[in-house]
Amino acid sequence: MDRFQLPICTVFFIGVALTASALEKYTAAVYEHAVILTGATPKLVTREEAVQQMNKNLDIFEEVTKTAAALGSHIIVLPEDGIYGWVFKRETLYPYLEDIPDPQVNWIPCIDPQRFGSTEVQERLSCMARNYSIYVVANMGDKKSCNSTDPKCPKDGHYQYNTDVVYDPKGKFLARYHKYNLFEWETPYFDFAKEPQFVNFNTSFGRFGVITCADILNFREPAISLVEVFKVDTILFPTAWTNGLPLLSAVQFHSAWAMGMRVNLLSANIHRPSLDLTGSGIFTPNGAKIYHFDMKTQKGRLLIAEIDACPRHSSTYPPPINWSLYASDPKHFFPQAEVFTGTIYFDNFTFTELSKEAGNHTVCQKGLCCHLSYKMAEKCNDEVYAFGVFDGLHVVEGEYYLQICTLVKCNTTDLKSCGQGVDTARTKFDNLSLSGTFNTSYVFPEILLTGTQLATGEFEVLKDGRLISNHGLSKPVLSVALFGRWFEKDPPHPQDASS
Ligand SMILES: *[C@@H]1O[C@H](CO)[C@@H](O)[C@H](O)[C@H]1NC(C)=O
Ligand SMILES: *[C@@H]1O[C@H](CO)[C@@H](O)[C@H](O)[C@H]1NC(C)=O
Ligand SMILES: *[C@@H]1O[C@H](CO)[C@@H](O)[C@H](O)[C@H]1NC(C)=O
Ligand SMILES: *[C@@H]1O[C@H](CO)[C@@H](O)[C@H](O)[C@H]1NC(C)=O
Ligand SMILES: *[C@@H]1O[C@H](CO)[C@@H](O)[C@H](O)[C@H]1NC(C)=O
Ligand SMILES: *[C@@H]1O[C@H](CO)[C@@H](O)[C@H](O)[C@H]1NC(C)=O
Ligand SMILES: *[C@@H]1O[C@H](CO)[C@@H](O)[C@H](O)[C@H]1NC(C)=O
Ligand SMILES: *[C@@H]1O[C@H](CO)[C@@H](O)[C@H](O)[C@H]1NC(C)=O
Ligand SMILES: *[C@@H]1O[C@H](CO)[C@@H](O)[C@H](O)[C@H]1NC(C)=O
Repeated sequence: MDRFQLPICTVFFIGVALTASALEKYTAAVYEHAVILTGATPKLVTREEAVQQMNKNLDIFEEVTKTAAALGSHIIVLPEDGIYGWVFKRETLYPYLEDIPDPQVNWIPCIDPQRFGSTEVQERLSCMARNYSIYVVANMGDKKSCNSTDPKCPKDGHYQYNTDVVYDPKGKFLARYHKYNLFEWETPYFDFAKEPQFVNFNTSFGRFGVITCADILNFREPAISLVEVFKVDTILFPTAWTNGLPLLSAVQFHSAWAMGMRVNLLSANIHRPSLDLTGSGIFTPNGAKIYHFDMKTQKGRLLIAEIDACPRHSSTYPPPINWSLYASDPKHFFPQAEVFTGTIYFDNFTFTELSKEAGNHTVCQKGLCCHLSYKMAEKCNDEVYAFGVFDGLHVVEGEYYLQICTLVKCNTTDLKSCGQGVDTARTKFDNLSLSGTFNTSYVFPEILLTGTQLATGEFEVLKDGRLISNHGLSKPVLSVALFGRWFEKDPPHPQDASS
């Protein structure tokens, strides 16, 4: 068997057989979906009612999958919670769940729908993939019976898992991922996977890994090993991501993660502006190929773009970065200015005000020192910017260790407002350089412009760890950050801590 297996991400040269089946580029689609919710409050329904409800969302998925395929897409990613929403208690979620088998069973639900009981959702997803000859990635709920032989078995006799599923263009069930890092409000109705699952698969257009939502921020695994050990080229990322300005809006953080990790990331978010849910994109190691952020309409949006199948072998693959190299050199420290404390999303930052049109600053907290050189196009008297540093354990909605250097626009001219979310600005920057003495190699470079717009192609990260923009940013600046995650300092995963 092995002998005939094609190396997937080799450079494309003479090999005749190789070039015939491996693609250098492929077309990716992600769909931001305005999910039709099951109701305003949790309600116990029958399985038939649940299927009927889910079909409303699946009807829309079928339309967009058809469109994506017609436009040449090889793969489409649909968002987390996109099939039944999120208004649940443990019991009321149950009718929406299906038994999702191990993919090794070798199953095409579309042509063998009866094999594992009531699996209407899996059948429809498989048929979409098969009918339109496209890989389909979706998120749904899995249920797994258990009993007293398993000490962790929940009282109601089954596990409920937040699950990503993947079907190949023949409709064959290819991959199943049980989300490992649940967000706080999901834990009443979903169970943690017992250990991180490193779900990945090969295609003729590169190697893919699957993660969901908080997996990208709150914990090291499975995300980091998928990239570093399993060497995936593209991460598939169904999500339901609430925008957290100034540093954690969806498109901002997800594009920064793709750059920092040097992989493609296909991110499909829920669309619900009233809950700050919007922001999807097709992100690459070199920035966003296409993205969508829309607080104005209630409509979903299909995004399609062609990207490199194997960024590691592309001539534009960015070099590895030593994030502390420049900043650690004592000659790059500026005299420390007057500082004040402000909070960004419950974390106490040490800030200094950018009181002049141009300047050089160093601010430090614990072991992290950040340096900033900047020049504004013009200093507006009614806008205040602050430069800050945080080195500590974040403890709200999950516990994870952060090292962050950031420049933010303050919400008002009151320094107490520095760090609050703000979505518009008028101050443009002609140039800037940001760096920090990071202890971690997991640093994600962000620039967010007014209106939650990205600055794709307007900045670069040098090998010595400096984020620089030399030619001016096209729009006024909301925030600039080097967002670091120091995993070694994280507390244990809740799944391990509880045992
Ligand atoms: C797929 O095609 C079959 C047969 O042509 C049809 O019955 C079914 O409705 C289609 N399903 C989807 C999901 O497109
Ligand atoms: C309990 O669960 C185990 C593992 O799932 C299974 O093998 C066994 O048959 C179950 N026992 C009963 C009494 O249901
Ligand atoms: C993908 O292909 C690579 C290289 O041929 C192989 O090492 C790896 O095990 C494959 N992964 C899967 C999930 O089949
Ligand atoms: C990065 O640079 C720092 C400072 O010169 C050095 O101590 C460190 O070993 C470098 N790290 C790597 C991974 O090369
Ligand atoms: C943050 O600062 C505030 C006010 O100075 C203080 O009350 C609070 O305890 C600090 N929080 C942490 C986590 O250090
Ligand atoms: C900032 O420092 C650089 C040298 O590192 C110097 O050339 C520049 O004039 C300084 N800018 C300001 C506004 O002080
Ligand atoms: C920003 O300031 C405005 C005006 O003072 C205020 O209404 C708003 O709540 C502030 N935003 C945040 C996130 O605190
Ligand atoms: C920004 O531009 C000014 C004026 O052209 C220059 O003096 C300064 O060194 C530049 N700073 C950075 C960080 O590039
Ligand atoms: C973190 O980095 C700082 C600055 O380079 C260094 O002084 C400190 O020893 C490092 N801490 C650890 C635990 O590595």
